[in-house]
Amino acid sequence: MASTREWFETVAEAQRRAKKRLPNSVYMALVAGAEKGLTLKDNVEAFGELGFAPHVAGLPREREMSTAVMGQPISMPVVISPTGVQAVHPEAEVAVARAAAARGTAMGLSSFASKPIEEVLAVNPQTFFQSYWIGDREGMEKRVERARRAGAAGLILTTDWTFSHSRDWGSPTIPEQMNLGTMVRFAPEVLRRPRWFLNYARTGSPPDLTVPNMTARPGEPAPTFFGAYGEWMQTGSPTWDDVKWLREQWDGPFMLKGVMRVDDAERAVGAGVTAISVSNHGGNNLDGTPASIRALPAIAEAVGDQVEIIFDGGIRRGSDVVKAIALGARAVMIGRAYLWGLAANGQAGVENVLDILRSGIDSALLGLGRSSIHDLRPEDLVIPPGFERRLGAHATTAR
Ligand SMILES: Cc1cc2nc3c(=O)[nH]c(=O)nc-3n(C[C@H](O)[C@H](O)[C@H](O)COP(=O)(O)O)c2cc1C
Repeated sequence: MASTREWFETVAEAQRRAKKRLPNSVYMALVAGAEKGLTLKDNVEAFGELGFAPHVAGLPREREMSTAVMGQPISMPVVISPTGVQAVHPEAEVAVARAAAARGTAMGLSSFASKPIEEVLAVNPQTFFQSYWIGDREGMEKRVERARRAGAAGLILTTDWTFSHSRDWGSPTIPEQMNLGTMVRFAPEVLRRPRWFLNYARTGSPPDLTVPNMTARPGEPAPTFFGAYGEWMQTGSPTWDDVKWLREQWDGPFMLKGVMRVDDAERAVGAGVTAISVSNHGGNNLDGTPASIRALPAIAEAVGDQVEIIFDGGIRRGSDVVKAIALGARAVMIGRAYLWGLAANGQAGVENVLDILRSGIDSALLGLGRSSIHDLRPEDLVIPPGFERRLGAHATTAR
């Protein structure tokens, strides 16, 4: 069925609508991609190198795609990845959480999100709180304690960030504060995007540039995005002892996000994590890192029987999800795909994206003659020679 005004048939169409509806600075902040964008490009294009080996008859009448991630039963192997700075839609993470709940799946909520964790958990109890390593252990403990009190279903620690700011295509401008000066500066691009502007005008407030989940208690004055980012920049990277320590503070499911190397995956196992996300931060971190799908098979082979392997980076269609699962992931997380859906049509747009992925997974399972995602194997794919990248040797000693 062709796209209509309120419904789009592909993630590519959601992206086109996001581009048309968002002020340029907001759209560019979503596309992101560090430096030359090599990793961002490879994340998406590597999926195109993987083929399928379809059957022609005897295909299953029904296909099963439910699974569980970090103790949460989900109706499809797609989870919302945490993303910060969602000046895309006034309902932001709450709309995303509602959409995920409506489609029976879980979500990661960024510590740089614009909505308080308590509001998000109220609409989707299957929410994992994501934190970067910011400040000292005491500060980390306080934020994590708030997430625990709020009832977060799990904790995600993201550590793959190198503060590399330069983007060859021009870094997006994120204002320090939403004041009169900012409004005047952004007025020309905002007025060209009336639908986005009206969505905010109806709420009576401009995009909120504070990060409410950085405080120890709900309702405390929240720092601005730049305030919190500044503190993060001053913080040294965590040691493996820190990772282990944080894992021990959290007595529920715990994910280390951003693992690309076999030795790091093994160290994560040693730190006692429940899950790892094979991820390069959607190509926003160290440019030149290979596509995360290339690193997945070696990591799955090394630690797939010891931790849950989640995958993210470059998922734009249901067949991408199927490819990642065939290569060893339990489920995938999506970033830009749902942000584009949110920009295109709020909560319904995120549901639309999840529905596109669901039906794409279903079609790929049908073509491959698999009645369940749990039966997918590398043999279902045509993997060209040299596709895989094994990053890092086996870990012998912890750093
Ligand atoms: C605009 C934007 C903001 C992001 N913010 C965060 C964040 O706050 N925390 C985090 O762990 N990852 C963050 N990520 C990375 C995503 O969680 C995810 O790893 C990545 O988007 C997956 O790639 P994809 O966008 O191709 O699906 C962000 C990604 C984007 C595009």
